[in-house]
Amino acid sequence: MKKDLISMDDLTLDEIKIYLEVARRIEAMPLPERLRVLPGKIMASLFFEPSTRTRLSFESAMHRLGGSVIGFADQGATSVSKGETLSDTIQTIENYVDIIVMRHPGEGTARRAAELTDLPVINAGDGSNQHPTQTLLDLYTIEKDLGRIEGITMAFVGDLKYSRTVHSLVRALMKFNVTEFYLVAPEALRLPGYFMMNDQPGRYRFIETESLEEAIAKCDILYMTRIQRERFPDLLEYEKVKDSYVLSHSMLASAKADLRVLHPLPRVNEISTDVDHTRFAGYFPQTRNGVIMRQAILSMHLGGRI
Ligand code: CP
Repeated sequence: MKKDLISMDDLTLDEIKIYLEVARRIEAMPLPERLRVLPGKIMASLFFEPSTRTRLSFESAMHRLGGSVIGFADQGATSVSKGETLSDTIQTIENYVDIIVMRHPGEGTARRAAELTDLPVINAGDGSNQHPTQTLLDLYTIEKDLGRIEGITMAFVGDLKYSRTVHSLVRALMKFNVTEFYLVAPEALRLPGYFMMNDQPGRYRFIETESLEEAIAKCDILYMTRIQRERFPDLLEYEKVKDSYVLSHSMLASAKADLRVLHPLPRVNEISTDVDHTRFAGYFPQTRNGVIMRQAILSMHLGGRI
């Protein structure tokens, strides 16, 4: 068991499967029993970037395991705004807690924090780089919805360039022998080329297309993403692509019967609300799975008894 959870690249397939197994066990546990998993433990929730789901589901997860939470959701309310360094912040907070959950706009910052402390550090999203806890809950959701992960056909839609959720999930699915990826993105937001380079040429098919309809007809999971205004250096470029793909219920007419639409959320307009109450919509149950998976992560990294 590694001390930290920073990147999907750090995990073997077997290690990922252990997170999924622990999440299954936690979901099966009665709530009063869960409260005895981490009594007396304290989690630091350090969010240098906005969040609704990741922060609140981690905090909910910790409370549901009998632990408690301190932290901040706005770095402006901390001494970072007075010029304190990340190093000093981590070396201070490590005296107060048992585990650190951190989101930061700087790529690689979670790894740096992990090197500064002996406490477990969980990456809750570092810039456009990785979002491993989202990936673990996405895998858990896919397995629950489809009954399998191996061999499925995935489609990723929207911002594939800056989306850390996409970057982490592609990496993980490749370990699960998922070999067919439809990539639906405007030219300016394509998946970076290095994802398609691997040591097993010919094993993976990355089908780049601008046709959402083509991907819908072929995939098992349609993974929608938001075009992220905050990642664009030039807002004029954002304006050009912001409405590139909008999924509506009628577009799902050609979908497989058990296709699921997932989305890490938040959404802006890329999924029309007329999809929300169809059998295809998996994105709100996905948020519920976030609390389960984050209970698994906290209990595993804090040595809780499951
Ligand atoms: N999926 C996700 O990371 O959502 P938040 O930004 O609301 O945490």
